[in-house]
Amino acid sequence: MSDTEAGNGRRSSLHGFWSSKLAFILAVTGSAVGLGNIWKFPYIAGENGGGAFVLIYLLCVFGVGLPIMMSETMLGRRGRRNPVASMALLGEEEGGGSWWAVIGLSGVIAGFLILSFYSVIAGWVLAYVVKSISGVFVAADAASVKTLFGSLAGDWRETAIWHTVFMIITVVVVARGVERGLEQAVTLMVPALVAILLILLGFSAATGEFEMGVRFMFEPDWSKVSGATVLAAMGQAFFTLSVGMGCVMAYGAYLPQETSIPATATAVVCADTLVAILSGLVIFPIVFANGIDPMAGPGLIFEALPLSFGNMPGGVFFGTLFFLLVGFAALTSAISLMEPAVAWCVERFGATRARASTVIGVIIWALGFLSVFSFNLLSDFKFLNGTFMDNFDYVTSNIMLPLGGLLITIFCGWVMSENSVTDELNIGQSTLYRSWRFLTRFVAPVAVVLVFLNAVGWLDWLLAGAATA
Ligand code: TRP
Repeated sequence: MSDTEAGNGRRSSLHGFWSSKLAFILAVTGSAVGLGNIWKFPYIAGENGGGAFVLIYLLCVFGVGLPIMMSETMLGRRGRRNPVASMALLGEEEGGGSWWAVIGLSGVIAGFLILSFYSVIAGWVLAYVVKSISGVFVAADAASVKTLFGSLAGDWRETAIWHTVFMIITVVVVARGVERGLEQAVTLMVPALVAILLILLGFSAATGEFEMGVRFMFEPDWSKVSGATVLAAMGQAFFTLSVGMGCVMAYGAYLPQETSIPATATAVVCADTLVAILSGLVIFPIVFANGIDPMAGPGLIFEALPLSFGNMPGGVFFGTLFFLLVGFAALTSAISLMEPAVAWCVERFGATRARASTVIGVIIWALGFLSVFSFNLLSDFKFLNGTFMDNFDYVTSNIMLPLGGLLITIFCGWVMSENSVTDELNIGQSTLYRSWRFLTRFVAPVAVVLVFLNAVGWLDWLLAGAATA
């Protein structure tokens, strides 16, 4: 029998299946929940003035990210291969041509770029586990935490060592293919993370400028919104949900046929949003109570959180556990960032998993040095959007992921036959299906294009032209 078996377009997986529907939800949750929620969300929200950014972010998460997550899962499951091969195959099958594989290829590249800086930040998290145990946060004040973070980021050797440690752990896990065990651990990690965030929230509410923090996060000040803000919010939505680069597609390839895609995607998106919002609610009251600049950038949580842990009862224990959990959350995300590339090398070039992940890991590790140096040796070397790390982050989150997402919506909404879509989604012609289809055909692609046009200033120009015409 050919690739397309039994005439219904369904293939058997090249790689085997998740043991259960829960395993898939856990894997995608592990991918989605990570530094994007705890480290990046507060710092990007801070840089973009809070409230209005958060609202646009939420709109993008539910209006654009959620339908794309469903689409990606569906494509992965229908293709049953790595994202490059799946898209080539589906492109041919649906009459669009195998060039649709570019979605997978650009995803492989985006994964390299993202993981190269992600690992540096995750390395700091590991460093903070050790710092927490050693008690350096105890009785910390705003000045001491700033020095503490500055001396870590400013020391390229220390940063490089932790980046190396994190990459080694990631490669070992991916090479051994022990993700299954980790998925189970996600059942513990996410609730534990939420629990510690709730404890921290109590502490922020009791001792921080809680009201100011809440206001900052939810009171929109539209005067602060520019095209760049909207683009940053959309980019963050893609980043935090791990969509637009084929991670979810790669995982979808292992999804059993009978699992409900809308239900799993919704569960993941809600869990991810909960962690991000909690994290913001924890950070900003501390930030305002201690005179930290909300625009502090990538160091924001590393300066704010030790202040809480250093001054609360049981802080050494909670601080250590917290940074351990965040490190673990980063690991489950890092694994997913490697998965499209590893699956592609294994299927395309017949490499073993161990060899593929080692080679890919070494390349990403080396690339990571540009981000390591972005905080010390090369911190003054700025081009386009800032340091090397700023640029890797900007290009992936704000350009590559939304572009990948745009192509995915065009493919699912306009190229794929409705028969294939309904067959794969398997939710009939329900309201749910019609909402998904509307979001995928119109809302998401139009939103991405408008946000792009707006960011480069063309939207105003076009609107002005339309007004005078
Ligand atoms: N979503 C993860 C986080 O929030 C990071 C991540 C994992 C990611 N896989 C991805 C980001 C794919 C973009 C694309 O930390």
